[in-house]
Amino acid sequence: MKQKRKDKKGNDNLHKKILNNEFEKNKAETKNTSEKIEGIMKATEKIEATKQETEILNMKKLQGFSYSFAIQKAAKLIQQGEVVVFPTETVYGLGANAYDPNAVRKIYLIKNRPSDNPLIVHVSSIDMAKTMVTEFNEEAEKLAKRFWPGPLTLILPKSAIVPDITTGGLDTIAIRMPDNKIALDIIKIASLPIAAPSANLSGKPSITNGKDAYEELNSVVPLILDGGQCRIGIESTVLNLTSNPITILREGAVTRKQIEGVLRKRIEICKECDIALSPGMKYKHYSPKATVYLAKPRDSRLKTIIAVLEKTEKLIENEKKTMVVLSEEIPDRMKKQIEETITPLGKLVVFKSIRQMAHEIFKLFRKADRKKYESIIIEGLFEDGIGSAVMDRIKRASDETI
Ligand code: TXA
Ligand code: MG
Repeated sequence: MKQKRKDKKGNDNLHKKILNNEFEKNKAETKNTSEKIEGIMKATEKIEATKQETEILNMKKLQGFSYSFAIQKAAKLIQQGEVVVFPTETVYGLGANAYDPNAVRKIYLIKNRPSDNPLIVHVSSIDMAKTMVTEFNEEAEKLAKRFWPGPLTLILPKSAIVPDITTGGLDTIAIRMPDNKIALDIIKIASLPIAAPSANLSGKPSITNGKDAYEELNSVVPLILDGGQCRIGIESTVLNLTSNPITILREGAVTRKQIEGVLRKRIEICKECDIALSPGMKYKHYSPKATVYLAKPRDSRLKTIIAVLEKTEKLIENEKKTMVVLSEEIPDRMKKQIEETITPLGKLVVFKSIRQMAHEIFKLFRKADRKKYESIIIEGLFEDGIGSAVMDRIKRASDETI
């Protein structure tokens, strides 16, 4: 027992040291930002403060009074400055009162997130969004009316009442209204906007179901509301309305075409802009432990699949436990043939559609980690509509293109 405690302390000291180093590194890289928020963000503070018993509530099984009781519990924790995990239609969020710098600081500590990587603030009404910005212009109004609640985050000029730590020291703020009853109910009952990044630890794949949330955050948050699998499965589209031209900083289920349809003008997409914004995050995102190979789409799908299979054979020859992921259906006969060639070291996963791939890709990455796959080979997609957003996530997860 004694030994165990000592080890734990050793780990904690190591964790503190890592946090401290990370913080010092960020501080050097973004001096101004860090100066602004230095007083609030002290990474050396006790990480033990985040260690606690975690309650997980299966919201799908709760109705009437017991549902309301669970929402009230979450809302109260938010009001008390705690961090709560909740579902949205995109991915799970790790949420705290956006106005409380100490509560927001806990999010950064738990995620081990660089202090200059800003958070998204979740609201339950357009009026609530307006309280946090200096201007909610006509374009914001049009987009919010069309896409909220939904997977579109708007970047707008921040009002002074929002603490700097919530926006990573930036003078803009990212806001969205999630399309999920549980999320909206917590915000409404707490009467507070909730700052929430995706609930994964920094650098790991986003979390899209309660079980994965529990596995990752058990003992570091007081409460996880399990709302089942997220409807969309990849994070929201992030749109910068303060730039000229208006620019998508991260692609999601709301596409460029849809936004252009509402604004009636051309907008830009900046690939990997959200990473460029935060110098501390240059390592790859969304990555499972396995080596991820991305098969770029060839002019015919068959050619791409052949490239996937050649690579699979090589990996299996080298005794690598390999997962093969195809983005859309293939004929049954072909499926059988592939399965026969790659079993038992290889496993074939075939999605029904690109939408299903979006829905399940992060869950699959986490499953691959759990089952100790050493390699994952993924069939790449043509970058169109939601395919473009999914491809963006796969690219960020991949180590090599084949
Ligand atoms: O679907 C989602 O957006 C999920 C759910 C929980 O709402 N949230 C999410 O948060 O994905 P996060 O923190 O993992 O990603 C937020 C992205 C980051 O890339 C961050 O750099 C960017 O939004 N961001 C936030 N505030 C920004 C700002 N003021 N300017 C530019 N980028 C910003
Ligand atoms: Mg994230």
